[in-house]
Formats: sequence, C-alpha cells, structure tokens
Amino acid sequence: MTIQSVKPSTARASGFRAASRVGACALFAFAALMSGGSARASEPASARATDLQLGRQNYVLDCMGCHDSGGAGDIGRIPPLKNTSARLLLAPKGREYIARVPGSSSASLSDDELAGVLNYIMLDLNRKILPPTFKPYTAEEVARLRAPELDNPGKVRTELIRYLREHSKPSPTAYY
Ligand code: HEC
Repeated sequence: MTIQSVKPSTARASGFRAASRVGACALFAFAALMSGGSARASEPASARATDLQLGRQNYVLDCMGCHDSGGAGDIGRIPPLKNTSARLLLAPKGREYIARVPGSSSASLSDDELAGVLNYIMLDLNRKILPPTFKPYTAEEVARLRAPELDNPGKVRTELIRYLREHSKPSPTAYY
C-alpha cells in the first residue's frame, strides 16, 4: 500500500482513531501546560486543540497521504510543511492562509480537530523556526478562518512570499 492510498475513511474504519485515544493523560497534562503559557493571551485553546498527540493522529489520517508523514511534501506537486510553514505566519493573512488552503479548509475534521492539526504542524514540525510570538490556533479562530476555502491558493501564497521578501523575512520552501 502506498502512502497516497491511505485514505482517511479507510483508516477510520479500521478503528485507528478509537485505538489511539489512549493518550488522555498526556492530553490533560499538555492542556494544563498550555493554559499556563502562551495560550492564555487570547481565547484559551481547548484541550483537544492543544493535544499534539491527537493533532499528530489527525495529521496522519487527513494530511499525511499528500504531505508525507514527516511533512516533507512531494517537491514538484505538494508543499513541504516541516520547518517551512511557520514562515508564512510572519505575513499578515499567513495564519489565515494556512487554515484556508483546500487541504485544511475542507478536511473532514471539526474546528478543534483542525486547530489541533495546525498546532501540531507549528509546535512540532516547525518547532525549530517557530516565531516566539506564536499562539496556538483555537477552535473558535479556525471556525472563523477556515471558510471559504481559497480558490486560488497559489496566488495567495505568491502574495505572501512577496510581502516576506519586501520585509526581509525568510520565505517558505519553493515546491514547484
Ligand atoms: C490531496 C492532497 C492534500 C491533502 C490530503 C492535504 N493537502 Fe495541504 N496542500 C496540498 C497542495 C497541493 C497544496 C498547495 C496549495 C494547493 O494547491 O491547494 C497544499 C498546501 C497546504 C498548506 C500551505 C503550505 C505552503 O507552504 O503554502 C498547508 C499549511 C496545508 N496544505 C495543510 C494541510 C493540512 C493541515 C492537511 C490535512 C488536514 C492537508 N494540507 C491535506 C495538498 C494536500
């Protein structure tokens, strides 16, 4: 079975999700940590939105088929996410772009599940380059940002990169 053939529906049907809920203790420990930290500055992110283990599981189910399990993407076709996506946060609307690209916007994930996946992408896959001002996505924010789906993500990405260059900030990795 290739990575591309791992469809969310197949993985769900196999009970992957149910079997992977065991990390409840880690979930509460991490939520407690976050509520005392940077999440406090805006709306508090829910336990589910800041559970990186759950975020990773949903990433595996809904994003990995295209973006690769480690976020390497597929150069020429799919952008990498590891140690690159966080650069987009440095442009106004970059945070919104990340929630509105089709893969995020129309994922079959609830708002707090999607917030959890985006937080996993930032706090884990991008931890080396994460801006210190990063605040975890919350379900409320994702609900506000994720729709409508971007109909021309490539154009928005080009505009974000133009802004980053003009402001001497590092750009995300080119993938095509
Ligand atoms: C069917 C393949 C596919 C799936 C599944 C997918 N993506 Fe993507 N993703 C893409 C492509 C292609 C792009 C480039 C923009 C576009 O054309 O949509 C992209 C772009 C992105 C970007 C912007 C990266 C950049 O550097 O511009 C982010 C963030 C992202 N996806 C997150 C996700 C998340 C989170 C999920 C799972 C919930 C997901 N994607 C699922 C194909 C996919």
